[in-house]
Amino acid sequence: MSLQIKYRFKSLDDVVGNKGVVSSIRSVLERDKEDIPHAFLFHGPKGCGKTSLARIIAEALDCDSASVMEYDIGDMGGIETVRTLKEACQYLPIMGNVRVYVLDEVQSMTKPAQDALLKTLEEPPNHVYFVLCTTEPERLKETIRSRCHMYMMKPLNSIEMGFLLNRILKEEGIEDYPKTIIKEIIFAAEGSPRNALKALDAVIDITDEKSALEALASFSTTDATLKELCQSLLQGTSWDTLRGIVKQLELDNEPESLRIGILNYMNTVLLGSKRNDRVNDIIQNFSMATTMYHGKSVFSSMVYTMCPLVSETKPFLNKPNEPAKPSLTKKLTIKGSDPESKRKGDIPF
Ligand SMILES: Nc1ncnc2c1ncn2[C@@H]1O[C@H](COP(=O)(O)OP(=O)(O)OP(=O)(O)O)[C@@H](O)[C@H]1O
Ligand SMILES: [Mg+2]
Repeated sequence: MSLQIKYRFKSLDDVVGNKGVVSSIRSVLERDKEDIPHAFLFHGPKGCGKTSLARIIAEALDCDSASVMEYDIGDMGGIETVRTLKEACQYLPIMGNVRVYVLDEVQSMTKPAQDALLKTLEEPPNHVYFVLCTTEPERLKETIRSRCHMYMMKPLNSIEMGFLLNRILKEEGIEDYPKTIIKEIIFAAEGSPRNALKALDAVIDITDEKSALEALASFSTTDATLKELCQSLLQGTSWDTLRGIVKQLELDNEPESLRIGILNYMNTVLLGSKRNDRVNDIIQNFSMATTMYHGKSVFSSMVYTMCPLVSETKPFLNKPNEPAKPSLTKKLTIKGSDPESKRKGDIPF
């Protein structure tokens, strides 16, 4: 059995990091049954515990495992799925007293399907609970989000990841596992516990340290181009270079995936580095973009947040290579209530 299945957390006590989410869920589940919300929404990067938490909620609600219905919305996001689901909701469970519907990858649900789900989500039958999971909550309609108790699962930092790995090594009965390998796994995992467990699984039986490190070198899941973009942002590389890198990125062709990718990488991989201040700067600016441009194309907001940063990066420019012109920053300054349309002509990508 793979480590990620063997060590899927089974109780809230076993969740590493995410203390706020854990204590909030714990207090919600301690309520009288009639006060427990019927719709939860977990969001956050891949492999950070959303589905595992959904299962814990189902168990806490005394849902028989036969009555936990997991739908992968990624494969069937249309209105037909919602119709079937609404129909099935009406019936009492064959086993136990409640039914829990776990809707994974729910961002793939079409907008008409989301509309059709709304009423059931708001007033489900008494025996029905929903747990929605998504890596991209911004693709859900605000009306869906507002009807759920929302929880954001965060990637783990290196200390938390180290704790998780050491706990598993201990349970596996392995002592004195080389610290260099643990460090490399933490780096390769990029904040995702699942990635960490997969990486550990891949090297746990390799006795030779050098071979283990070599195996890990190819493990990182972040697109190499995305990494290059992040590094370039940190170095204050010229617009021409940045434009070239962004053009090579595929990332599902979703501008929002790009922004999230940058945030995740900066957040999890680079925060421990010497360039901490600058990483924080970028994260803060990119996070702000979400609130300002919710649901809109993000290329322009990304450029907007990058411009001032790039022009302020002189201390990071070891070899200045055509630094961004201050006039560009000015052109992209927000004015008025609809900056998106005003900036369109000025985007340098
Ligand atoms: N915070 C955490 N603490 C301990 N283990 C974790 C944590 N988050 C995830 N894991 C472990 O990582 C593995 C993957 O978790 P899970 O499937 O719940 O992630 P997910 O967020 O649903 O991923 P995806 O977005 O790909 O569906 C499981 O073994 C789980 O126990
Ligand atoms: Mg999942």
